[in-house]
Formats: sequence, C-alpha cells, structure tokens
Amino acid sequence: MQKKYLMTPGPTPVPSEVLLTQAAPMIHHRTPDFSAAFMEAVEGLKYVFETKESDALIFASSGTGAMESAVANCFCAGDTVVVCRNGKFGDRMKQISEAYGLNVIDLQYGWTEVVDPADVATALEENPGVRGVIVTQSETSSGILNDVERVGAIVREYPECVLIVDSITGIGAVPCKTDEWGLDVVMTGSQKGLMLPPGLAAVTVSAKAWRAYERSTLPKFYFDWMKYKRNLDKQTTPFTPAVSLILGLNVALKMIRDEGLENTIARHAKLAEATRRGCEALGLTLFAPPEGRGNAVTPVWVPEGVDGKAIVKIMKEKYGVTIAGGQDEYTGRIFRVGHLGYFGEFDIITTLAALEMTLAELGYSFERGAGIKAAESVFMGE
Ligand SMILES: Cc1ncc(COP(=O)(O)O)c(C=O)c1O
Repeated sequence: MQKKYLMTPGPTPVPSEVLLTQAAPMIHHRTPDFSAAFMEAVEGLKYVFETKESDALIFASSGTGAMESAVANCFCAGDTVVVCRNGKFGDRMKQISEAYGLNVIDLQYGWTEVVDPADVATALEENPGVRGVIVTQSETSSGILNDVERVGAIVREYPECVLIVDSITGIGAVPCKTDEWGLDVVMTGSQKGLMLPPGLAAVTVSAKAWRAYERSTLPKFYFDWMKYKRNLDKQTTPFTPAVSLILGLNVALKMIRDEGLENTIARHAKLAEATRRGCEALGLTLFAPPEGRGNAVTPVWVPEGVDGKAIVKIMKEKYGVTIAGGQDEYTGRIFRVGHLGYFGEFDIITTLAALEMTLAELGYSFERGAGIKAAESVFMGE
C-alpha cells in the first residue's frame, strides 16, 4: 500500500465530509429539497466571489465552459476585445475569442512576465469601441498573479466595455473582490479552491455584463446565461444539474465560511510562502517573478542537469506525491506544486521531503533537510 498525496493545482484533494455528502442517495432536482440546496450554493458562491451585486450562475461543466460562456454571452461577431495572456489559460481565452469570430487585440507576454495594466489602458485609448478586456487572474501554467484590481479601475471608465476575469485558480486562494474592483464576469471551477471533484463551473455576471448580454448576438444554447438567470429566479436550473456536486459544494462552502474567507486566503498565502522558501533553500529557482506570485501553485525551474520529467515520475511512483509538470514549451523544464484548496502545513512538508529525496536520487546536490527547515520556519512565524 502507498499513501497518496495530490499536490496539483486541479483537481485538488476533496475533504472526506464533501465526499461523504456526495455519496448520499440521489435526490430529484425538481424538488423543494434541491431548490433549497441550490440557493444555498448560489449564496455561498457569492460569498467566495465577494459579490452582492452580480448574479452567480452554475453550470455542469469544467471551467472552460464558463470561459466559453463569457465570450458567447457578452459579444457579437466582429467585436474587438483585448486579451491579456501570459500563459496557457490566457492563450485559451484568445482561442475561444477567435473561435467566436472576435477581433482580438493581443497583449501577449512571456510566461514569466506579469500583465501590465498600463498596456490595457493604452490599448483602450488607442482602440475606441473595444467591447471587452479578458485577463487571467491566477495563471496556473506559470503561477503568476495578475493585478485585476488595477485592470478593473481602468476598464470601469469604459461603460461599453466589460472586464472578464478567469479566476479559476484564484477564487478561494487570493483576494478577488468582484464588486469592489469592478469585475464584470468572474469564473471558477469546482476542482480548484472549492475543494470538489471536477464537473462544476461558476460565473458571476454584473449589471454591465447583463447589458453586454442584451446586445450580444453570438450563438448560444447550453451556456445561454439568461436561461440560467430565469431559472435561478425560480430557484432551479434550466437543465439537469450536477446534483451531487452541488450538495458537496454546500459542505465545502460551509468549511470556507467557518474558516472565514480572509483566513482561507491567508492560509493559502502561508502555504505558498513555505513552498517558495523551501524550494529556494534547496537552491532551486522560482519560475514566477516576485512582483506577481499567486497562492495557488508554485512553479519551479528544473535544475541544470536534472531530468524534469523524472522528478514528477519519481515523486509519484516512489513516494505517492503527485505534482504537476510544466505545460507547452515548459514541459520538462519546470515542475509545479499545487497548494490550492484543502491543504495544510504538513502537505507542504511532505511534498518538500519527497522532493528532497527525489532530487538526491537524481544526483542534484543540496543540503538535505534545508527545504523542510525553511518551510517549518514559515509555519513557526520565524
Ligand atoms: C486558470 C485556469 N483557467 C482555465 C482552466 C480550465 O479549466 P478546466 O480544465 O476545468 O476546463 C484552468 C484549469 O486548469 C485554469 O487553471
């Protein structure tokens, strides 16, 4: 037998309370029981999205469904949008926008660069009539945290332009103040900070985004936001919902409420800091720049002379610790430790210990125990 540790930025570990709830006998979705659970989930989501003003819509889909819904519901073919991209998921927003016939102003950065809000301001000044700005808050492929608060302050000045934020690995891990920062559309997925299995996506829709919806002519059916809104007003969903996931979501949301969102975010910040300090103490180099590091995942450069794919393989096979490799051009060149959702201090200690043993086996030279010691120091407040 080998005990397993899932240290990836999605799917993430699911607390047993949530799993047990999902194992309960099925209930029918057109019943008062389900309606009560559904409305509790909607209210709980509004708490984690920090919104009182936006609607929260829930889809039975992965996060990409919410991304696609944002494009299909806010625009018309030929509309111009600014897409900020510094990683795989920003790239995906560009692909979706192009698939729907939008004209993309491409603010492309390297994967180790943070989106500069000044570039968004310039793009909006130079291109009158832009209908949307799309930005990934927490870029999971690079670990970068983009400053959506500053982007929000810029886009707020353009009444015809909506700000769409992919916070799929941001929600629950970093502050994402939907109302206060003027974020019109914000999305997340269940297998991330919400501590659920994959299969649910959620999106918030502001009054400004509903105005964009009114003029939008892009084709939509399953992800037509108005279908969800009309049914939400009747405390239900337009299509068969992922009933078990919604019941599980309420348990997960209660755990977040009991901890308090601020404390949840602070816990993530501490786990991220310990992971970073632990890796640096091993002489490793962090991938994301200091001015833009998020709390969800820590990407680390594979050291010179070490086989990056072997790090991930040995950690999983020999020690039962699953971390993520790099994506696209960084495959084999970086590895990523996830600490998003149901994680505590000893998950980080365990992972750093497995990393140390793996690196030692691969012939990398460093001071054994230095990573764990550095992480302990963070946890002990030293
Ligand atoms: C930032 C970000 N955006 C979008 C997605 C896509 O979500 P999904 O894989 O659930 O469709 C992910 C998933 O890893 C993500 O991390």
